[in-house]
Amino acid sequence: MLTSSPLNIPLLRGPVPLARVLIRHFLREGDLAVDATCGNGNDTLLMAELVGDSGRVWAFDIQEPAISQTAHKLAQAVLSERVELIQAGHETMAEHVSGDLAAVVFNLGYLPGGDQTVITRPETTMAALVQSLGLLRPGGILAITIYPGHDGGASERRTVDAWATGLSQKEFHPWRMGQLNVPYDAPYFVLIQKAF
Ligand SMILES: C[S@@+](CC[C@H](N)C(=O)[O-])C[C@H]1O[C@@H](n2cnc3c(N)ncnc32)[C@H](O)[C@@H]1O
Repeated sequence: MLTSSPLNIPLLRGPVPLARVLIRHFLREGDLAVDATCGNGNDTLLMAELVGDSGRVWAFDIQEPAISQTAHKLAQAVLSERVELIQAGHETMAEHVSGDLAAVVFNLGYLPGGDQTVITRPETTMAALVQSLGLLRPGGILAITIYPGHDGGASERRTVDAWATGLSQKEFHPWRMGQLNVPYDAPYFVLIQKAF
């Protein structure tokens, strides 16, 4: 399937390409960033490219196949040096990560092509989201792609939406972005910027 035009214009079908447009906009050379759910490594790879040699990315996943798939992708792109891969739950983020982060990226749900019973859970997702806001620098972004359609996804949607809705207007700017001509339980995207 085409994901961009010959002119390299991204195809905005579903939330993931839109999330990537925004990640590209906010991540710069030298930045620190976290991929909280590295999965097949697509977002980790993008972030490693964007932060350059002087930046750093921490990438979490609880599953070994996700960590090795991400390691393989990074090695192929000769970007392994920029990324610390951590096989642990993102709810342990604050133990592993320090510094003022420019971006934290979550892609919730299950590993595409992997074990569909291993999914992100509202309790651990929330613990990690709260830690992420604490680690962001002013102007930094938290990007969350949410999949309400699978088992457990609807309760994760409710939990994340309620939390983001209640954030202080002075401290954070939360946005919800979803394609309009799709079913109600289609994936969508929440972006939270920490105020300056
Ligand atoms: C939708 S996939 C991520 C896709 C990935 N961003 C990519 O580009 O391929 C969700 C991932 O979250 C992982 N996961 C589930 N619970 C987790 C947790 N507590 N901490 C970190 N990762 C978790 C799953 O193992 C799965 O690989």
